[in-house]
Amino acid sequence: MVTSSRTLTVFGATGFIGRELLRSLTKHNAAGSITLRVASRSAKAKNLSSWKQLAPNVNAIQPLHCDVTNPDHVSEAVKGATDVINCVGILYETPSKNLTFAKIQQEAPNLIAEAVKESATVKNVVHVSAIGADLDSPSAYARTKAMGELATLNLSNNDIARVTVLRPSIVFGPEDSFFNRFENMSRYLPFLPLVGGGTTKYQPVHVQDVAAAIIKALALNAEGDVPSGVYELGGKTVFTFRQLMQLVLDATQRKRILLPIPFPVASIQGTAFELLHSVVPSVPPLLTRDQVELLKSDNVVSPSARTLYDLKIEPKACSLDTISYIR
Ligand SMILES: NC(=O)c1ccc[n+]([C@@H]2O[C@H](COP(=O)([O-])OP(=O)(O)OC[C@H]3O[C@@H](n4cnc5c(N)ncnc54)[C@H](OP(=O)(O)O)[C@@H]3O)[C@@H](O)[C@H]2O)c1
Repeated sequence: MVTSSRTLTVFGATGFIGRELLRSLTKHNAAGSITLRVASRSAKAKNLSSWKQLAPNVNAIQPLHCDVTNPDHVSEAVKGATDVINCVGILYETPSKNLTFAKIQQEAPNLIAEAVKESATVKNVVHVSAIGADLDSPSAYARTKAMGELATLNLSNNDIARVTVLRPSIVFGPEDSFFNRFENMSRYLPFLPLVGGGTTKYQPVHVQDVAAAIIKALALNAEGDVPSGVYELGGKTVFTFRQLMQLVLDATQRKRILLPIPFPVASIQGTAFELLHSVVPSVPPLLTRDQVELLKSDNVVSPSARTLYDLKIEPKACSLDTISYIR
């Protein structure tokens, strides 16, 4: 049963998870009572008809130009909303465009938290972080993810809003940047790289399960009320990186060498890719030193964490069938 009308501000609605969230929201039985405020930097995203194609059943869509590093934009996006969802993140830094981990994953969540405090209308905040978020991590990505979580969780510590932090492992689905990227690599290269030997463990989670978790956390209707707090989102199965690369080769029916690359060598490669990216910012780095640091730790749900099962979501398997989109 739908309880009341809601205005959801979605930061990062143009991204992989953000788009899937919109697709899932439009199928929800509360869709007709939802006004979606989609906050994004891209001019293209101002086009209302493209949002309507993605979420035709919601009550209304309000596209809004928003750079999450700009306090005025953030405040405008949050004003009057009942719910805020933050799906913004970056995988590498582009300092020349003001895209640093500190700005996007630490300072922006702070700005959002400040705006939520000011608004006094927001009851629910869902923050998408990542497994491995850790203040003591050698990776700046993981450290800033932890800082972003703290800024957001402070809202619930101070009884300002109900906060749910979702930490996915690798997220997969037709528009993912993981399997599609290695599929693309396997098309052109005679090998796939196994940084650090490929022994690091992952627990890939389907993007629809992540979107379902966000919706559960929003408690859009009576059935949806789940405890707030931190959840780690992983799929049914844990894979090593080597097993994931083998899955790519099996799905594409290609034969390629799985080439172990020691961490120090990967770090040197990362330096070269970063250098190229700093000279030509439009070329994304294939690997960075920060990503090499991340690759040194397993990325799986911790045994003590609350999980998808606590949200009453049965995770989809990661298998030849569910990654058939890379064929
Ligand atoms: N995909 C995964 O495997 C995975 C795994 C673990 C955690 N996560 C986390 O999940 C979240 C969503 O990931 P995703 O895969 O959907 O990422 P994505 O596809 O790369 O999307 C990132 C989003 O961030 C927005 N963004 C970046 N900089 C911005 C800025 N300055 N102002 C406003 N918006 C900005 C982009 O919007 P515009 O460019 O349109 O403005 C885009 O919508 C991130 O926090 C990510 O760290 C993802």
